[in-house]
Formats: sequence, C-alpha cells, structure tokens
Amino acid sequence: MNKDKVEIFDTTLRDGEQVPGCKLDAEQKLVIAERLEELGVDIIEAGFPISSPGDFHSVSSIAKLVKNATVCGLTRAVKKDIEVAADALKHAKKPRIHTGIGTSASHIKYKFNSNEDAIIERAVNAVKYAKTFVEDVEFFAEDAGRTDNVFLARICEELIKVGVTVLNIPDTTGYCLPEEYGAKIKYLKENVKGIHKATLSCHCHNDLGLATANSIAGVVNGARQIECTINGIGERAGNTSLEEVVMVLRQHPTLGLDTGINSKLLYDTSLMVSEKMGMMVQPNKAIVGANAFAHSSGIHQDGVIKNRETYEIIDPADVGVTESSIILTARSGRAALAYRAKIVGYELTKVQLDTVYKEFLKFADTRKEVLDNDIHQIVEISGITV
Ligand code: KIV
Ligand code: ZN
Repeated sequence: MNKDKVEIFDTTLRDGEQVPGCKLDAEQKLVIAERLEELGVDIIEAGFPISSPGDFHSVSSIAKLVKNATVCGLTRAVKKDIEVAADALKHAKKPRIHTGIGTSASHIKYKFNSNEDAIIERAVNAVKYAKTFVEDVEFFAEDAGRTDNVFLARICEELIKVGVTVLNIPDTTGYCLPEEYGAKIKYLKENVKGIHKATLSCHCHNDLGLATANSIAGVVNGARQIECTINGIGERAGNTSLEEVVMVLRQHPTLGLDTGINSKLLYDTSLMVSEKMGMMVQPNKAIVGANAFAHSSGIHQDGVIKNRETYEIIDPADVGVTESSIILTARSGRAALAYRAKIVGYELTKVQLDTVYKEFLKFADTRKEVLDNDIHQIVEISGITV
C-alpha cells in the first residue's frame, strides 16, 4: 500500500527546551540538531531568535549546519521578531518562519484586549511580511484547541489567500479530546476554501496525557505534519512525543500513513537528549523507557521466552534497543529463572529447577530484583551440583 507521508516537525530545541532547568548551550544544540537530521526529521524548529542573543546565535549556527531538513525559527506576529528570525535563518538551505498569534476568545480578550477582525488583520500582516523574506511560512493559531472552529476556519482562509504554507493548529493547553481535535482538523479540511494549498499541522500538548492520541486523530483526519519533541519534553506535562507518533503510525499500517524517521535511532536519540538536558526519562515511558521492553511477571516472561510477540507489539531492535529483558523478581516463574540461569552458566534439569526455584522465591521476597550475580548464590544455597 502506498502510504501518505506525515512530516515530522521537531521542536525539541524550541518548545522542548522551555522546560525549566533544562537549558542547552549552543554546542549541545548543534549536536542534537545533527542527530535530528540523521534521524530523518523533516523540519527542525531551532529556536525563537528574538528571545535572546544566545538563541539567535543557535538558530543561525543550526541554519548553517543542517543540510537536508528545513530549519525553522519562531516569531510572534510582530515585525521586529520576523526580521530577526529572517536574519538568523539567512544561511539555511530551506528556511521557514513560524509566526502566529492567539486565536481563542480568552487569548483575544485577555492577552490582546482585541477582537476577531483585528486578530485576523495582524495574522495576515505577519504572514505577508514573513513572505517577503522566505517562501515557506507557517502560522500558529495559538490555543486553537479552544478556538471556535468557525473563526479558526475564517482566519485560515485569509492566510491561505496570502500564501501561508503550513497552518499549525496547536492544542496549546492540552485540553482537547482526540475526537474533538480530529473533528477540528476535519472541519478545517472541509470548510476552508483553498485548504489544499497549505499543510495542516498538529501541535498538541500533554496536559491530560492525550498529546499523542490527539496528534494521531489529527493526521487521521487530514493533517500532514506533527510537531513533537524527543521524549515528549516540553513545558508543563510536555509536548507530543516524537517516538510515540512515529511508532503508532509504523505499527498501524492500515492507517496508510508513515514518516521518514529512521526508527532504529530512536532509543539512542532519547538517551542523548535526556543526558544533555539532564532530564531523566520515566522508566515506563512508551518506546524509550527503561522498562518498555522489560518483563518481570511470571506469566508474561513465560510467554515472551516462548515467543516474543506474545507480549511485545514492537521488536525492540526496530527502535534501537538491543533485546527484551527478563527481570527476575518474586513475581517471576520457573521459565524465567531457567532462562536467566542458563545465561549465567547453569543448565538446570526439571528436578534441579524445582529445588533452585524454592530458594529463589525466598531470596526474591527480600529483594526488589534478583541479579545475575545473586543466581550463583541461590544455586549454591540450593545444594545442587551442576
Ligand atoms: O503550544 C503552542 O501553541 C506553541 C506555539 C508557539 C506554536 O508552542
Ligand atoms: Zn507548544
């Protein structure tokens, strides 16, 4: 089946880096940008150039370094921001300016003390101005998740008239349900004149743990770009996790969608970003967490030892993890003990295994995990000779 490509817009270096205490220096950003390109991301959002001289410098250095991916810089719908971003991006092979403004009733009233018509005018002027510097201009309708769909469609239509290339529909506060977010994208697809001239993009935050589900609902309903970060890092509960959306599409070929990501680099990239940001990945994190391919209960271990696919939907090698791990705990069964004992040099008969298993359970009840070294001690206590 010919699959439709979903572009991956990585914002680890911009939205991801907004995590308190996780600031990266210019050199670290360059190394990550290089890796993102190797990973196969289509767009790297390198920073917010007007925000600080350091960010300007990083965006500019990444723009010079990156060969294949589009390099993008964020701006508000403000002339000076756009000029500074254009300057930072001037050496990029494929530059993109990402400009935008809040569109929800609450943003319009409280942030801007404005009205819908004035917001459309500012948005149109920003896109027109950005187009004087670069061809590729993306617009974000901040808080689109809580923006009235009719107004959102109106603003998108006006922006298409002035040549916007990507329309970003952020669920900035992570409020939407997947059905609601999917319906929003569908509504725009069906009601915005000229929508085929622009790509709809999903940018979902994870405040309710729904960022991945919402992004998938978005692409199922016609969006063709997902904005995400490595390990799902980002402000508050974070952004959509790159590794999750990539693997959801890969594991569900009937959706007819795929990305250009080299999934074998996912685990290593996760480690790299975690280490450079000093931000640990939760062990139960999907795809890249330390326990994502670890089995500790007896029933599951028995299944995985017989056939990995009984309890694993992803081959760990596909995401760069060397193997599934069988962790010995007091919940483990004989099959797991025999499996690990064999790895450390004991080929136990059924009778021997029964004896060793009794000692193993006593030992395991006193520990969180039984390590390979402990197996030698357990076999010795059991009094069997192997
Ligand atoms: O979440 C958001 O709305 C954003 C925009 C600036 C794109 O990060
Ligand atoms: Zn965001």
